[in-house]
Amino acid sequence: MEEDIAKILIKEEEIRKRIKELGEKISSDYRGKNPVLVTVLQGGIVFLCDLMREISIPITLDFLSISSYSGKTHTGVVRIIKDLDKSIENRHVILVEDIIDTGLTLNYILGTLKARRPADIRVCALLDKKVRRIVNATIDYGGFEIPDEFVVGYGMDYGQRYRNLPFIGVLKEEILSK
Ligand code: IMP
Repeated sequence: MEEDIAKILIKEEEIRKRIKELGEKISSDYRGKNPVLVTVLQGGIVFLCDLMREISIPITLDFLSISSYSGKTHTGVVRIIKDLDKSIENRHVILVEDIIDTGLTLNYILGTLKARRPADIRVCALLDKKVRRIVNATIDYGGFEIPDEFVVGYGMDYGQRYRNLPFIGVLKEEILSK
């Protein structure tokens, strides 16, 4: 797997350090509350696993699965494949995402979640590819801003591969153009 990587963009230690800071900030902002972390499968799971262990207040978890991507190009279609298990009415929701690219997916998810009348919703995203934004997207807890490069690892895939790489890397051109 690692032989397909052109360069490492963010190392494991850097990710760990930043997530610790995000966890501390969330713990302090939500003190006395019991937020629900809604994670978007599958890309967000590695981030969630590390983030939740840096949060020191009670939390609950729920998961959403959507289809919006095939390979490295947006299909333009966002569809819920697996919905949340529990109601989020009157709950403090933190949406946990791996990466915000065009912002279309986030926009769609926020729309459907807000319609369920939560107390509030904030967005926690590990990566922000700001230069690619098509629609407005506010990230309340952001990890890293990255350039316009297709990244894999730390939960993120290309054709369902590379999710288990512990760092965030850029694939070699020959792999992307296959
Ligand atoms: P958006 O709707 O364009 O913002 O896309 C968001 C989703 O696309 C993310 O949750 C990822 O699943 C996927 N995605 C966007 N950019 C990348 C990337 O560079 N690597 C892997 N997945 C990506």
